[in-house]
Amino acid sequence: MKPLDPLRKALRRDRVFDFMMPQVVFSPDLDVSHGPILYLEDVTVSFDGFKALNNLSLYIDDGELRCIIGPNGAGKTTMMDVITGKTRPDSGSVFFGQKIDLLRLSETDIAQGGIGRKFQRPTVFESHTVYENLELSLAADKGVWPTLFASLNQAQKDRIDEILEVIALTEQRHHLAGTLSHGQKQWLEIGMLLAQSPRVLLVDEPVAGMTAQETERTAELLTSLAGKHSVVVVEHDMEFVRSIARKVTVLHEGSVLAEGSMDEVQNDPRVIEVYLGE
Ligand SMILES: Nc1ncnc2c1ncn2[C@@H]1O[C@H](COP(=O)(O)OP(=O)(O)OP(=O)(O)O)[C@@H](O)[C@H]1O
Ligand SMILES: [Mg+2]
Repeated sequence: MKPLDPLRKALRRDRVFDFMMPQVVFSPDLDVSHGPILYLEDVTVSFDGFKALNNLSLYIDDGELRCIIGPNGAGKTTMMDVITGKTRPDSGSVFFGQKIDLLRLSETDIAQGGIGRKFQRPTVFESHTVYENLELSLAADKGVWPTLFASLNQAQKDRIDEILEVIALTEQRHHLAGTLSHGQKQWLEIGMLLAQSPRVLLVDEPVAGMTAQETERTAELLTSLAGKHSVVVVEHDMEFVRSIARKVTVLHEGSVLAEGSMDEVQNDPRVIEVYLGE
């Protein structure tokens, strides 16, 4: 039995599960005419009275690469949870472009609507090849699960080749994902997100556990995505952040403490105090 056979079977044309059906949620012309693609305004999230986010206001411009730093517990992951619909805020507003209210959409709708999220632990299909992993993501995006294995058209194949180049896994295309290094799995997962053509990519601690070389390659990769996508990177590794940073936002106790270039924020006395006081 070929490795994809069980999948083929599960995805027979007469058995289309709801969650696999494409849901057209957003109009293709997302309104970013004012600059930002993400608007978080006065967002508060409480856990048993503790404010993980405290009137957080944050704007991400279309196509920008933003780094978010801050001590443990600052609310960085919670912020991503709010954008992706995993956590609902107690108050505040969260918009995608000027018109799409993310607080009214489900987590699935948000993911399919163009906001991709990379979790810390890679979630690739280990017993499938690199190529098949990308194939599956591409298909999931196009809502063509049932017809996936009829074979991809040339444009789709070209897209996969392009992604393989971006994530530096062209040579490993036919390797099983389970045999990749930790860093390569992370890149594959980024590639799988890219296959879904997201407008925004949220990446939480991408270089944790990577070798120095993998970290450097990840910096190049994320930098190359800016412009085509808006990329929001949360990371503790300051050397890495410095290597990719344009605009940096420092979160502390659920709000923005400082924002600016890496030099600006690193020389900000309030930022220094927060980090030294850790
Ligand atoms: N589901 C939850 N229930 C209760 N408290 C939570 C929950 N999620 C987060 N918190 C708390 O909210 C605060 C912010 O957490 P969050 O994970 O957003 O921080 P972070 O900035 O991502 O930290 P780190 O750098 O350690 O990943 C922390 O004090 C955390 O303990
Ligand atoms: Mg976190």
